[in-house]
Amino acid sequence: MSVDMSGKNVIVTGAGGGIGRATCIKLAESGANLVLVDRDKALADETKKAVDALGVSSLVVVADVTSEEDVKNYVERAVAEFGKIDGFFNNAGIEGRVQLMHELSYADWKKVIDVNLNGVFLGMRYVVPVMRRQKSGAIVCTGSIASFLGLPTTIGYNAAKHAVAGIVRTVATEEARNGIRVNGVAPGFINTRMFQDIAHVLLPEVADKHKAAETAGSSAPIGRLGQPEEVANVVRFLLSDEASLMVGAMVAVDGGVTATATTAD
Ligand SMILES: NC(=O)c1ccc[n+]([C@@H]2O[C@H](COP(=O)([O-])OP(=O)(O)OC[C@H]3O[C@@H](n4cnc5c(N)ncnc54)[C@H](O)[C@@H]3O)[C@@H](O)[C@H]2O)c1
Repeated sequence: MSVDMSGKNVIVTGAGGGIGRATCIKLAESGANLVLVDRDKALADETKKAVDALGVSSLVVVADVTSEEDVKNYVERAVAEFGKIDGFFNNAGIEGRVQLMHELSYADWKKVIDVNLNGVFLGMRYVVPVMRRQKSGAIVCTGSIASFLGLPTTIGYNAAKHAVAGIVRTVATEEARNGIRVNGVAPGFINTRMFQDIAHVLLPEVADKHKAAETAGSSAPIGRLGQPEEVANVVRFLLSDEASLMVGAMVAVDGGVTATATTAD
């Protein structure tokens, strides 16, 4: 067991998705109990099956992270079930419509801002008071390379992910003396449903979505697509006591994408 999370209770949003599920499995392997939040019950149930097989306790809460009532409910359910929230992976997100800014409708802009920014705020808003009462807790929000870079065709996504870095740094400094550590993870090109769909739009000549993701992902300096488990390892570390001095960091897990503007060849 590389990182000890035994006896800790962790809420994961987007728990049915690629990065969310991989993180739940890593956390369960380290002994954490889990509250699995997703708007898609079938996906969350699949994650539950995987983590329960590892011998931890888990609970699925179906919620839309853009609904204040749903967010309040998943936090209350977590406290009712486990008494304490030690970790929170504020991760649910969507890519929104992949389109140049001058063609994007206001409705599509608002949709992606609602999930990727307002959803992240709401999670913080209801989890932090619980952790303040406990005087302890660790939070990781999912940013992206889009937290640092302008990327054509995903303006709403990029704006929201830049804002996630702002939320991380602000809440980190507000809460550090209350025993709460807040950090962010900034994945690059990761092999999940989301990146496969983005790559499919950007590379329509590649018929297979997975192949499109592999091709687009190999533009990273490391020369290959990232795997959700590689992000999950970093999230688990940030949520653990091993990361005791990490406060307000946005940690790139991107095979070098944000390290450089050019590659060696
Ligand atoms: N895959 C990548 O390359 C990549 C790169 C950088 C950042 N990210 C970020 O990682 C996070 C996870 O994405 P992923 O790649 O695992 O994608 P994914 O589509 O596999 O997973 C996203 C999950 O979030 C859930 N979700 C979406 N909207 C929701 C809502 N309103 N309420 C509740 N749940 C909702 C979905 O049902 C899904 O299970 C996102 O924040 C994404 O922006 C992904």
